[in-house]
Amino acid sequence: MTAREIFSGGVAVITGAGNGIGAGLARHAAGLGMTVVLVDIDGEAVATLRDELPGAIDVVCDVRDADAVERLAAQVYSEVGPVRLLVNNAGVEQFGYLWDTPVANWDRLVSINVSGVFYGIRAFLPHMLAADTPSWVWNLSSIGGVAVVPLQAPYIMSKHAVLALTECLRLEVDSAGHADRIHVQAVLPGAVKSNIFETAGGVDGGDVAAAEAQRSAMLDIKAEAMDPIAAAEVVFEQAAAGEFYLLTQPEYVGNAMAERADVLRDRRPPALRTKRRFDPAHQ
Ligand SMILES: NC(=O)c1ccc[n+]([C@@H]2O[C@H](COP(=O)([O-])OP(=O)(O)OC[C@H]3O[C@@H](n4cnc5c(N)ncnc54)[C@H](O)[C@@H]3O)[C@@H](O)[C@H]2O)c1
Repeated sequence: MTAREIFSGGVAVITGAGNGIGAGLARHAAGLGMTVVLVDIDGEAVATLRDELPGAIDVVCDVRDADAVERLAAQVYSEVGPVRLLVNNAGVEQFGYLWDTPVANWDRLVSINVSGVFYGIRAFLPHMLAADTPSWVWNLSSIGGVAVVPLQAPYIMSKHAVLALTECLRLEVDSAGHADRIHVQAVLPGAVKSNIFETAGGVDGGDVAAAEAQRSAMLDIKAEAMDPIAAAEVVFEQAAAGEFYLLTQPEYVGNAMAERADVLRDRRPPALRTKRRFDPAHQ
């Protein structure tokens, strides 16, 4: 099936919709004909996007607040309609050595990147099961969910966690007998243009220079990163085709997946690598 056949109507709820990948997914979903609920902690960003997208609804909600996410789900089902697509997308970055990382930055990242995804599932899945219409659930992992990278340990850990959580959720939906109706899929973007590196946490003490050098290296990659609307189009088409792993740059991210599989099969210990530039030719 094509994305237009599946996603040309219905409600899409997208967290972190105010910027970057979430905004790209929202624009593409609206373009296909979906009613998009734009959820973000940044009220100004979602209000601006709402004005651009016909029929869109903006909601200020912090995905760290489990009760607020539950209220959001109840409100969407009572006032907007059954959710065809939930995207647990909100996420943040963190740079620096793990031993220098402020506890508050660790807690912020884990509560947004990991708990936020869980709260979304806990709030929306029961409604989806009760609604008796097909639904899609996308959780944002990353190429970082199949790689190991120094100076970004909390983020990389969180993306491995989201990937595992999503794989387990897929099995649970299947074992509970709902796989024909609830489609669970993991999104693994490569580099996509966004604000994630600018808003990333850093370190207050210890090796601040190393943390900021890593931030600069990632900001350099951004110049060659993929446009979020192009990324969204690829993700929607793969989802409609029934893929489980939705890769914005199939070859580039697919190579990282294969490399991870090789490392584990060969039981190779983590090893530093010479910097490999992001190569858009291998998307
Ligand atoms: N950009 C990339 O290259 C890339 C690559 C792989 C994975 N990802 C993942 O894609 C997702 C989106 O990232 P992005 O790059 O578009 O970042 P971004 O910073 O541009 O957008 C993230 C959005 O999430 C919102 N947000 C942050 N905390 C929130 C909270 N507590 N509650 C609700 N909303 C909150 C922000 O306000 C922002 O609008 C993240 O999960 C990220 O890990 C991004």
